[in-house]
Amino acid sequence: MIVLGIESSCDETAAALVRDDGLVLSDAVASQIKVHGPYGGVVPELASRAHLTNIVPVIQEALRPLPGGLAEVDAIAVTHGPGLVGALLVGVQAAKAIAWSRNLPLIGVNHLVGHLLAVYLRRDPASAPVPVAFPYIALLASGGHTALYRVDGPNDIEQLGETRDDAAGEAFDKVAKLLGLGYPGGPIVDRLAAKGDPRAVPLPLPMRNKRSLEFSFSGLKTAVAQYVATTGRPSTEQAQADLCASFQHAVITSLVSKSLEACRREKVDRLVLGGGVAANKGLRALALEVCTRSGVELWVPPIASCTDNAAMIAYAGAQKARLTGQLSAAEALSLSVFSTSPPLRSNQSPRSP
Ligand code: KG4
Ligand code: ZN
Repeated sequence: MIVLGIESSCDETAAALVRDDGLVLSDAVASQIKVHGPYGGVVPELASRAHLTNIVPVIQEALRPLPGGLAEVDAIAVTHGPGLVGALLVGVQAAKAIAWSRNLPLIGVNHLVGHLLAVYLRRDPASAPVPVAFPYIALLASGGHTALYRVDGPNDIEQLGETRDDAAGEAFDKVAKLLGLGYPGGPIVDRLAAKGDPRAVPLPLPMRNKRSLEFSFSGLKTAVAQYVATTGRPSTEQAQADLCASFQHAVITSLVSKSLEACRREKVDRLVLGGGVAANKGLRALALEVCTRSGVELWVPPIASCTDNAAMIAYAGAQKARLTGQLSAAEALSLSVFSTSPPLRSNQSPRSP
C-alpha cells in the first residue's frame, strides 16, 4: 500500500509518499523559517497563508517518483490535529479535495502519533524494516509538545506525563530569542552549546526532586532571563556558548532522567526519541550514555524523521488504516480539525484489557 501523507499543523508544509512497511518513497518539506524568523516565533496567520501557497507544489514534488501519479496512490493521510487551526485547515482541505476527486480513502492522523511512530521510517530501499519491538517508552520533545508515552502498538498509546508549562523546543526558541541568536533557536543553541562549559552558569534543574514524569521548563527560562538581566547579554561567543551549554544541560538532563524513570516504572527497557528536539546532539549523546549504562535499548530516528514531516503522517495513517479499517468515504470527507484536545489515553484513564 502506498500512502500520500500531508502535514500542515505548524510552520512546515509537507507531503510524502510512504509504503506501509515504512519505506519512504518521497519526503517534501517547505519550511517557513524565512517567514517567521523576523518575529522570533510562528505567526499563525502568516503560517496559514504560506501553507496555501506551498501546499500544491509540495504535493506535486512528493508525487514525482510515481510515473502514474495519483493513480498509484492507495490512500491519503492528513494531520487533523493538534496544531494551529488555520494551518491544519489548509492540509485537511487539500487532502479532502484529492480524496474526493480520485475516490481515495482519507485517514485523519494525530500529529503526535506521527512523531511517536516515526522511528519506523526508513529511506534506503535496500534496508530491512526497522525492528523496534513493542512496547517502548517514547519521549516526544518538540516546539509544541513535551511528553512521555508508553507505546504498546500503533493504536495503543498511553501518555505517562507531560510538561506543565513550556515545551522543550519552545524553551530553546525563547532562550535563543532572549540572547538575540535567531529562529528557530534549538539548532543554534545546540551548535553553540557544543563549544561551551555546561557548569559555567548555575541554573536550576527542572523538576529535579519530583519523582513524577512531568516536565517544566518555564522556571529555567526565567532563570536564564534573570541571569541576562543581571549580567547583560553575553558579548563574546565563548560567553554565549557557556550560557547555551548550561541551559541545554539542564533541559536534556531533565528529559533523559524522566525518560529513564518512565522505563524503570513501566518495566520497559526500550526508549525511542521523537520530535524536533530529538535532533539535539547533546540530547542524543546523553541519552546514549545513560541508556548504555542502564541496559536500555535506545532508538533515535534520523533528524529528517524527528522534525515535522509528512512521511510520519503517511506511515501512521497506513497503520491506522490497517488496524481500524479506513474511514467510510462520507465520514472521511467530513473530517474536521482539532487544536489542543488530547486524544491519546492519559494514565488517569483505565487501560483497555
Ligand atoms: O517537531 P518540530 O519540527 O515541530 C513541532 O511539532 O513543534 O519541532 C520544532 C522544535 C523547535 O522548537 C526547534 O527549535 C526544536 O524543535 N529543535 C531543536 C533542534 N532542532 C530543532 N531543539 C534543540 N536542538 C536541536 N538541534
Ligand atoms: Zn511536530
